[in-house]
Amino acid sequence: MGDRIKVIMDCDPGIDDGIALAYAAAHQDELELLAITTFAGNATIDKVTKNALELADFYGLKVPVAKGQERPLVKEPLHAEEFHGETGLGHCVLPETKKELASDNAVLFIRDILNDLPEGEQVTVIETAPMTNLALLLRIFPEVKEKIRQIVFMGGAAKGGNITPAAEFNIYADPEAAKIVFSSGIPLVMCGLDATLKCNLTRNQIMKLCQSGNPVAKACGDMVGYVLGNPTKYRCVASIHDAVPFMYLLHPEFFKTEKALLDVDCSEGAGRGATLCDFRWWLHEEDEMKDIILTDADTGNFQQELFESIYSVSGCRAAK
Ligand code: BDR
Ligand code: CA
Repeated sequence: MGDRIKVIMDCDPGIDDGIALAYAAAHQDELELLAITTFAGNATIDKVTKNALELADFYGLKVPVAKGQERPLVKEPLHAEEFHGETGLGHCVLPETKKELASDNAVLFIRDILNDLPEGEQVTVIETAPMTNLALLLRIFPEVKEKIRQIVFMGGAAKGGNITPAAEFNIYADPEAAKIVFSSGIPLVMCGLDATLKCNLTRNQIMKLCQSGNPVAKACGDMVGYVLGNPTKYRCVASIHDAVPFMYLLHPEFFKTEKALLDVDCSEGAGRGATLCDFRWWLHEEDEMKDIILTDADTGNFQQELFESIYSVSGCRAAK
């Protein structure tokens, strides 16, 4: 399979996390998924971990799943069940799995994977949840930093938020964790709302998935169809935010980017959880402007690539 990109995915499935995993499953020739770790973002830790196990098994991903933290560093947990449904996966019911957790401590599990890498090798971390697991990893075991090539994360926005006028959900749920990750010195790629809101599927595309005889397409349709429940609110399209970090890895040409210096508002004010993208190149040295911000996306290319990928997942277990 040639030189595949080694990836660890930290997630909170979550409808769009679930579809991101389908995308990863379709691209195993290019991506080597070393682990899926969970955090209690979109739903409780037990729900998102059950979903991660079932999704991995359903898509035929032979990858270990480790359970992560159940709460943010400082504040109370924040879930999003009104967007993701009671189970976290919308209307989708996956076959029960016998797949077992590889670990109930995601932080230690990631540390061990990084420590066991052959000399000179690095891993890309895909983050599609609040950053609590990663922050703990970097605080407790700072020596693993050099094993992380980059962190490509869904979160934040240069302009505007979704959970508040200023903040995006993943960052708002644990800004203190984001602060630790942003200041780690590891190269960052921010796949924020500026790009991910353009990375959507239309109502017709989702209906087509729901009516498909292909089990992966049907499962993805049943997941994302849930967000069409309120067409006014969702404008007849559903953003698939969490597929963007994976697609950026394989198709950076679908996105516009700018360099910046990234920070996060950890105050208790109206700006709490907002990502601060400092684009002022004239104030900073070139090597300080190391963070990459996705500022725009090509909707048509995203839709076509995601659609084709979902239909191409092989090795899945048939849905109920
Ligand atoms: C992000 O928050 C979650 O609801 C989604 O799974 C995505 O990771 C979008 O703001
Ligand atoms: Ca997510």
